[in-house]
Amino acid sequence: MAVSHGYDPQSASGSAKPPIYMTSTFVYPSAQHARDVHEAFFDGTGPLAGASDHIYARLGHPGLDILEARLAAIDGAEAAVAYSSGMAAHSSIALSFVRPGDSVIHGRPIYGGVDMLYNSVMPQYGSHVAAYVDGTDEANVRAAAEEALAQGPLKLIIAETPANPTAAIIDLQLMVRLADELGEKQGHRPLVVVDNTLLGPFAQRPIELGVDLCMTSLTKYCGGHSDLLAGGISGRHELVDQLKTLRTTWGNHLDPYTAWLVTRSLESVHVRTERAMSNARSVAEFLRDHPKVAGVTYLGFLPEGSRGRAVYDRQCKAAGSTFSFHLHGGQAEAFRMLDRLRLMKLAVSLGGSETLICHSATTTHYALTSEQRLAGGITDGTMRLSVGIEHVDDLIADLAQALEAV
Ligand SMILES: Cc1ncc(COP(=O)(O)O)c(C=O)c1O
Repeated sequence: MAVSHGYDPQSASGSAKPPIYMTSTFVYPSAQHARDVHEAFFDGTGPLAGASDHIYARLGHPGLDILEARLAAIDGAEAAVAYSSGMAAHSSIALSFVRPGDSVIHGRPIYGGVDMLYNSVMPQYGSHVAAYVDGTDEANVRAAAEEALAQGPLKLIIAETPANPTAAIIDLQLMVRLADELGEKQGHRPLVVVDNTLLGPFAQRPIELGVDLCMTSLTKYCGGHSDLLAGGISGRHELVDQLKTLRTTWGNHLDPYTAWLVTRSLESVHVRTERAMSNARSVAEFLRDHPKVAGVTYLGFLPEGSRGRAVYDRQCKAAGSTFSFHLHGGQAEAFRMLDRLRLMKLAVSLGGSETLICHSATTTHYALTSEQRLAGGITDGTMRLSVGIEHVDDLIADLAQALEAV
């Protein structure tokens, strides 16, 4: 599915690989055809309903059709929609499904951009938010839901799992159960939205677990080379169609060239992530045993018998390759180490072929208060590592020499 689904070479002169359709508009063979294409797009009826004719690239284009078909297939969903970034996807979910007076819950920690979306931006349009800090603890999640419900109807249950940057895990079955229950209580069921960016489509399959929308920043593992920005959402036709219609108005679709790049990268995402995950385990083990390291929040180290481990065993197929570690000491020690690295690159982002590292409190989670950061397990000595596909011995040698500076 990752290598060829969604593309028929006979649709493009037998070209083994999909061409890039660099066009903003599409020519109709006749005036009647133009009318029928518009009827199919806007009303879903008429002789061209279900056909793949196009009107104008903001409404859809052949590169998007291929990518969206492939993403849906990989995620095991009925349909998918692609955007110009992961945040475009998140914002579109918020603007499509939340109205003034509604409420939302999310876990903490969560990616800083999503935190800002629901805690700073959406409240300006009248929505409310509450956060849970342990997504495996039913009482904790229920308390957040009660807090949200006291402010307004709960519309979205957002779960970024594992969470950025600490790889904290959230029980998706618990979220689905809660949504079903609240559906009965409120008279409408909140949507469960999962951000699957950190594990990606092969290591965690949220749609199979019953969630409504699976969001992925395609910028990360799916794009895989730190050279593009894109976002995707998979789910039922009914929800994806609603998102696609609004994407036409907001104009945050993915352009033909980037759609082509992501489609190409999807062909190798499973191979890249396997290698990165195997490297990550070795790097995590090296850090765990290092005297200057106070702790490593790697999913593969969740203790037997813990709640988190039970959820991990049920929900994840692998431990991923992005995790955090904490040094003994704080910012000064972390900065000394970071400035000594020679191979690993000091940059935000994750999921690329190269290893990236950053100091969470002063970069990705800069905009949070220190209380909010601490609630999410981010200390002044926390660093996030996205392990790439380089030779693992080189990665460990680089860390070993940099840790001497601490
Ligand atoms: C978990 C997670 N979700 C969403 C995003 C946003 O994606 P993008 O940068 O493609 O807008 C990021 C970006 O780092 C992320 O880490």
